[in-house]
Amino acid sequence: MRRIAARLLAFVFALVLAIPTVHAQAGGTSSDPWWKHAVFYEIYPRSFMDSTGDGIGDLNGIASKLDYLHALGVDAIWISPCFPSPQVDFGYDVSDYENIDPKYGTLADFDRLEKLGAEHGVKIILDFVVNHTSDVHPWFIESRSSRNNPKRDWYIWRDGKAKNQPPNNWISTFGGSAWQWDTKTNQYYYHFFYPQQPDLNWRNPVVADAMYGTSQWWYKRGVAGFRLDAVSTLFEDPNLKDNKILPGKNKQGDPNMDNENNDKLPEVHDALKGLRKAADPYGAVLIGETWTDNIAELKKYYGSNHDELQMPMDLMLTKLKFSAPVFREHIAAVNGTGEWPTWVISNHDIVRAWNRYGDGKHNDQIAKDMAAMYLTLRGTPIMYYGEEIGMQNNDPKRKEDVKDPIGRTGWPKEIGRDGERTPMQWDETPNAGFTTGIPWNPIPVTYKTYNVADELKDPNSILNWYKAVLALRHTNEALLDGDYIALNTSDPNVLSYLRKAQNKAVLVVINMSAKPQKAKFDLSQQGFSSGTATTLMSTPKAASTQKLSEIALQPFGVYIGEVTK
Ligand code: NOJ
Repeated sequence: MRRIAARLLAFVFALVLAIPTVHAQAGGTSSDPWWKHAVFYEIYPRSFMDSTGDGIGDLNGIASKLDYLHALGVDAIWISPCFPSPQVDFGYDVSDYENIDPKYGTLADFDRLEKLGAEHGVKIILDFVVNHTSDVHPWFIESRSSRNNPKRDWYIWRDGKAKNQPPNNWISTFGGSAWQWDTKTNQYYYHFFYPQQPDLNWRNPVVADAMYGTSQWWYKRGVAGFRLDAVSTLFEDPNLKDNKILPGKNKQGDPNMDNENNDKLPEVHDALKGLRKAADPYGAVLIGETWTDNIAELKKYYGSNHDELQMPMDLMLTKLKFSAPVFREHIAAVNGTGEWPTWVISNHDIVRAWNRYGDGKHNDQIAKDMAAMYLTLRGTPIMYYGEEIGMQNNDPKRKEDVKDPIGRTGWPKEIGRDGERTPMQWDETPNAGFTTGIPWNPIPVTYKTYNVADELKDPNSILNWYKAVLALRHTNEALLDGDYIALNTSDPNVLSYLRKAQNKAVLVVINMSAKPQKAKFDLSQQGFSSGTATTLMSTPKAASTQKLSEIALQPFGVYIGEVTK
């Protein structure tokens, strides 16, 4: 009898262990996939936290900040490439997909980070560089070794058009011809990015299978998904047709061209379907680096049968100017796709949000406005480390200080991306508490006021504003799943909308102008006739109840309130 009871107990215990952990904060209904209500946070590993004193961030550094991330309200971190790499493009040139670069730690450190992450409710997303490898990846070393090497066709090799003439006119987005002459086998190989980043040949099914297998190798290790790098350039026209030349030159001094033969080819969607098929058995999520020109293009990345990316990033938002009508129109268009949006306002390739949306005078307040907006919209947000403390670009002033190669080849028109990749500002001690050594990339003097430790103490800081909005979006039913309803759609200054659940709704009102504004709402059509809202958050602090007929907003002020039936 006692043995049966013991077995029963063991069975129940095993069952409990087998139940997947649900992040307490993620909220939503049980049928929702976890990523739908999660908050993602991009970490540039070189710059987040250095645990060894070599001036470069690492995995153990990230692990030491999991308490911070959890308290901030982060459910998943996307770590930019941390695989072995010669670091020509700071990790976007991978020389081994199934290991960790010694600069960042070891596979054991990775496993530890993942385990600690799970204990903190923080999942790990890795960055899969699918378009190209490093030129020192063993696959490429083999491929370039001879014309008849079995891996020759893993990359794109071609004869030149004539002596000293590349196969066609394509240019690398990082400058110069997209073709590199290889003296050993007297052929050119193709690289959309640096010559040290040869493009994989996705038309070769063996390559595609190798990449699917790599993704599954990581899923088996517990990775919750991938951010897929540069997906739009996976395929090239097999006939290598020349691209159309457009007027003008780009920042690298090359002619502008339309890239219609080496970017956004329809076959990209087949590869994404394959990656999704590999992800589905593991319940993994695929986030896409999907630079698009319009909403129709963005929609395609979800797949016509929802069989491609669950989270193609809306990167168009990062190109818009801070303006109520501009944002209103864009949000309506993204919601109009009927898909679940993925909102992003900054990343490691673009000027920081604080600088980009700021007007030079009210940047801190505008940073709060942006948070109030993109963290309360219907969809999943991806933050960029440091955005929550108002980190600013620290651009190199002289060419000799530039670390990012595109800044050296394109100087002074293209200054590179070092400015948005500076170390995280943890406190006001030397090197902002990031390292005891010399930081790989200089930290701006503004760290003395914009840092985690000081901002945690200041109730009006950007950080505490982010924390409050994130806490709200994790627990408020209307923010998690409510419909998006645009309000006062002809107001040129104030962006306002409802997130509406069954019996209650959250009203978000953001003054995007430098003048005080008054907003009036009649929500009876939406089923809310009480005429008042209960204040949830605001800048500056507002009374606990507000009349909807007169919401006064200071320049760039925000009001977020709840209305009930
Ligand atoms: C996009 C990445 O975000 C960027 O940092 C990188 O340089 C290119 N892809 C090439 O991998």
